[in-house]
Amino acid sequence: MKNIADHLFDILENSVKAGASEVKVKFSFSKRIFFCQIIDNGSGIISSNVEDPFFTTRKTRRVGLGLPLLKKTAEETQGYLKISRLNKEGGTKLEFIINFFHIDAKPFGDLARVFLDALYSWPQMNFKLIAQNDFSSDVIMDTEKVKEKLGEDLLYSSQIKHFIYETIKKELRAKGIDDQFSIGSEKDNY
Ligand SMILES: Nc1ncnc2c1ncn2[C@@H]1O[C@H](COP(=O)(O)OP(=O)(O)O)[C@@H](O)[C@H]1O
Ligand SMILES: [Mg+2]
Repeated sequence: MKNIADHLFDILENSVKAGASEVKVKFSFSKRIFFCQIIDNGSGIISSNVEDPFFTTRKTRRVGLGLPLLKKTAEETQGYLKISRLNKEGGTKLEFIINFFHIDAKPFGDLARVFLDALYSWPQMNFKLIAQNDFSSDVIMDTEKVKEKLGEDLLYSSQIKHFIYETIKKELRAKGIDDQFSIGSEKDNY
């Protein structure tokens, strides 16, 4: 995992595997502190052991590393990772902080690409992305609305793909969330 985008894709994949139909992602970037909250409506965390690298419900590989690695990435910058069950019925809330003052902070990576990949890898899922800074909070992408407006045919045209990608990128950049921002981008620990 060399950047935040890699971690994000892993978290979204976890939500998909947990049978979620909707994932809400909120980014907030203020004074070099990146806060990310992800809420899904999947089956919900079934064990408080998820930060343990030997806990996984997947059958193909014995070790579940996504969350322990994210925890490490966050804690290396004096940040944190918190995961909890949303309610009795299920759902998961995950929150993490990366402190970009810290020399060990990993770069953002291409976050817009992650949402584009998610939209096209799991067309049945709805992803909503909200980004905020000290000045404003905006819905940057709502794939349910995008799919509704465009319809299947248009959605898969390469121009539309490109447009969606560039729009997310531009909106994130307007909130200061830009791969160019990060420090230490030459590091690749894994
Ligand atoms: N959003 C989620 N909803 C329900 N369970 C989850 C979610 N995210 C993670 N989990 C649980 O935590 C385990 C560990 O996740 P992770 O560290 O990403 O490893 P892996 O995905 O390889 O199993 C998963 O196997 C799953 O049981
Ligand atoms: Mg995973």
